[in-house]
Amino acid sequence: MNTQDIIDTAKALVAGDKGLLAMDESNPTCNKRFAALGIPQNEEVRRAYREMIVDTPGLGESISGAILYDETIRQQKKDGTPIVKAIIDAGIIPGIKVDIGAKGMAGHPGEKITEGLDGLHDRLIEYYQMGARFAKWRAVIAIGHGIPGRGCIEANAHALARYASLCQEAGLAPIVEPEVLMDGNHTLHRCFEVTEEVLRTVFNQLYAQGVMLEGMILKPNMVLPGLSCSKQESVDEVADATVNCLKQAVPAAVPGIAFLSGGQSSELASARLNAMNVRFKSRMPWALAFSFARAIQQPALEIWQGKEINVPKAQQALYHRAKCNQAARRGEYNTELEKQIHDITLYKHQT
Ligand code: G3H
Repeated sequence: MNTQDIIDTAKALVAGDKGLLAMDESNPTCNKRFAALGIPQNEEVRRAYREMIVDTPGLGESISGAILYDETIRQQKKDGTPIVKAIIDAGIIPGIKVDIGAKGMAGHPGEKITEGLDGLHDRLIEYYQMGARFAKWRAVIAIGHGIPGRGCIEANAHALARYASLCQEAGLAPIVEPEVLMDGNHTLHRCFEVTEEVLRTVFNQLYAQGVMLEGMILKPNMVLPGLSCSKQESVDEVADATVNCLKQAVPAAVPGIAFLSGGQSSELASARLNAMNVRFKSRMPWALAFSFARAIQQPALEIWQGKEINVPKAQQALYHRAKCNQAARRGEYNTELEKQIHDITLYKHQT
């Protein structure tokens, strides 16, 4: 492996005020999102959707890296251009989701273990040859009655660390994603406790597996109350809890933390990221960025509806959300700016 190249990739993903676009929904997840909007669910429609995304004018102004799914990295645009080439031409680094999903964990009712380590070495070599320079593996941790247990946390952390080590061996920067889910009625305090335990365990395992922290990105959840918890803390309280939790558990050698959105609304995800950057910017050892899927794509998907005629408007919505999150990285996002960016986007895409 070329260590410096991996470090450079990780740094480039969180450089300046850019962030990542996760467009790596597995086929079942992508189909689920399409079905909810009455969009046909087949390979060609998924291809057209991804083409719409990567062809968004100006996307590279705010997006540093795009995470693809195995089907997409092998696809071409209608004119025959490989999707990966379109991404690179837009100034965006291509990445690839390499886990094969979270499955029910034996002996641990209600908990999941992410699979995909078997044969991963060879798949990573192939992805590298196809142009990918970073990868992603997502572990999911649910909060509920008596869960998560140590067995689930340790097994997922171990798999994340094995994956990360294999990535670096193959020349790819790993995105390490332990997601503590928002579902449930747990408090923000409980989410803090679980997130801290999960992160500490993950970094212990990364150490045990010899993962070079300078050459990876952490993709965690924000510290949030459960979706059905009666107390929903303010944006600033969420920002404080999230950064204080990360400070307990994430070594300073990690260049960047790029949050998942996890089902938050687009605006709330931007506002919470913004608050972290306003309140802690000069006091954090790592960059705080975004790696959103739904919080960037959802408005565009709702406009697109699977129809060619809606492509320009859907691209405007995508560009707009990416720009709002770029502003949140600088700590400059607010509702007025949300509107201004909207107007500028309309103007830019009309001229
Ligand atoms: O693995 C999950 C995605 O990369 C992030 O998706 O922002 O919709 O939670 P999300």
